[in-house]
Amino acid sequence: MSGIFLDSGDVSEIKKFQAMGIIRGVTTNPSILVKQGIKGGLPGVHVHCIQIAKLIDPLPLSVEVTNNDPDGMKSQALEFSKWAANINLKIPIHGPNGELENLKLVHELESFHKVRVNVTAMMNVQQCFLAAMAGATYVSLFGGRINDMGYDSCKEISRLRHLLDEFKLPAQIIVGSCREALNIMEWFEAGAHIVTAPPKFLETLIIHPHSKETVSQFVKDGARLEDWKVREAK
Ligand code: E4P
Repeated sequence: MSGIFLDSGDVSEIKKFQAMGIIRGVTTNPSILVKQGIKGGLPGVHVHCIQIAKLIDPLPLSVEVTNNDPDGMKSQALEFSKWAANINLKIPIHGPNGELENLKLVHELESFHKVRVNVTAMMNVQQCFLAAMAGATYVSLFGGRINDMGYDSCKEISRLRHLLDEFKLPAQIIVGSCREALNIMEWFEAGAHIVTAPPKFLETLIIHPHSKETVSQFVKDGARLEDWKVREAK
C-alpha cells in the first residue's frame, strides 16, 4: 500500500505536507502546472519539476508528456525521465481522438527503457486493466470525473482492485480528480493503493471543529495551571 499523493505543483504546499510525513508522492499534469503559473515553456517545467523531485526524493513525482504525437511523446518521456530518478511519466491512455499508439509506448517504456509509467486520464475499469496488462507501474482512474458522469467511482475501484489482485498484476491504482474531502477515505476503502488529492482536502481531513473546541479548552486550562505555578512560587 502506498497512501496519499499530493495532486499539486505548489512547492510550498508540498513542503508543508511533506514535513508532516503524510504524503507518499506528488502528481502533476499540464493543467496543474498552467494553474500554478509555470512560465518559460518546457524549460520552465523542467526547472520546476526538478525542484519538486529533489524536494520529495525518494518519493515519486508524476510528470505528464505534453506532446501527443507518438515520436514526440516518446522523446519527451525519455527526456523527462532523465530529469530525476524519482520521476515517473504520465502517458494518457489514448490521444484526444482515440489514437491507440499510447499503450504501445507505455509497454516499450516499461519493458525496454525501464521508465516507470503512470497511465492517466482513465475513466473505467477496462482502460485501467489494459494499461496494467501493458506493464504500467501506476494506473490513474479519475474518480471525480467518473462521478461527474453519473457512474460510481467506488464500484470501478473495487472491481479494478479485484482484477489486479486476481491476475497478480503489480500496477498500483492511483485515484485522482478528487472533488471533496470524503473521496479520499472512500476511495481507499474501495481498494485504491493511492489517492492523489489537492492540498485543501488534506487540511479538511485534519482539522475538525470539535478538535478546535477541545484543544481551546486544554489551552485555557493549561494557562490556568501555568498561573498556579507562578502563584505557588511566590
Ligand atoms: C491526477 O493525477 C489527475 O491529474 C488529477 O487528479 C485530475 O483531476 P481533475 O479531474 O480535477 O482535472
